[in-house]
Amino acid sequence: MERVLAGIRPTGKLHWGNYFGAIQNWIKLQDQYECFFFIADWHSLTTEYADSSKIRGWTIELVKDLFAAGVDPEKATLFLQSQVPEHAELHLLLSMMTPLGWLERVPTYKDMQQELASKELNTYGFLGYPLLQSADILLYNAKKVPVGEDQLPHLEMTREIVRRFHFLTGKSIFVEPQPLLTPTPRVPGMDRRKMSKSFGNAIYMDDSPEEITAKAMQTLTDPARKLRSDPGNPEVCTVYDFHKLVSDKKTLEWADQGCRTAGIGCVDCKKAMAKNAIEFFKEFREKRAAWDKNDKQLFEMIAEGSKRAQKVASATLQKVREAMGIQWN
Ligand code: TRP
Ligand code: SF4
Repeated sequence: MERVLAGIRPTGKLHWGNYFGAIQNWIKLQDQYECFFFIADWHSLTTEYADSSKIRGWTIELVKDLFAAGVDPEKATLFLQSQVPEHAELHLLLSMMTPLGWLERVPTYKDMQQELASKELNTYGFLGYPLLQSADILLYNAKKVPVGEDQLPHLEMTREIVRRFHFLTGKSIFVEPQPLLTPTPRVPGMDRRKMSKSFGNAIYMDDSPEEITAKAMQTLTDPARKLRSDPGNPEVCTVYDFHKLVSDKKTLEWADQGCRTAGIGCVDCKKAMAKNAIEFFKEFREKRAAWDKNDKQLFEMIAEGSKRAQKVASATLQKVREAMGIQWN
């Protein structure tokens, strides 16, 4: 089996954008690839260093969300980045040969600095974000990395780093990673902007049935349907976008037809979507609640996964040290 590596930053509980945009795909990949999944808590520190008190809690919540969503430790290795310090050593060693211009050119660098203008991100650590990501990937010699479009420049830089390392050391030890683009297009939030915790437009995986229904009612519809008798266009409606994620074909046809002919009202349509969403995440909510009572086992599983990951990482690092002439044992 080919190896896949995927990481996610702990930034709070998972919402539908995270689930349909990434995690749902991870669950499928477990059966087709040898998967290494990890929580990139050091990457969270690059933006949260000034108040890092939340990262621990976010990490624990994230692990619970991932297991409840179907990450299966029998099939995949789930680990915590900071529990495998090899990531830091490889990051350091690669930093010696990484031209500053490569890092400054990565579009997420300037974009994120602008987006998070209230934070001081003119830091060494933040500039190195993509290189730490390269180290994450290269330690496992992953052939494929499932990512969204925004992450493509990071993968491109990782491949450049591989070529530079091989050229400078004369030792070919890394695999050039390729992206595995997630099939689901970007998930909108209730207000049709990108779904994001910071926009307050997110529906969370563990939202209660009542919260799901209330949020369905708030979700933007086709503005052309001012009156119940006005026909609408589901293609410009966020409720319909959500239907596509949680409803079956029959319901989709019912909504499409009913919308275009004004045969149904938006409230009917929203109620049907909410009902399907409640059902869709029912098993998740139950498993999630069970994990809340089982912190001890959770920590054991993280330690176990991290130990498994570390075996692979330290073997790679050994070769890197040798190639760079600093192997002492
Ligand atoms: N930068 C990624 C994101 O924000 C998270 C990440 C860190 C990652 N290291 C990785 C993803 C390695 C894939 C592989 O989504
Ligand atoms: Fe959207 Fe449904 Fe209303 Fe059409 S009927 S605008 S698809 S909520």
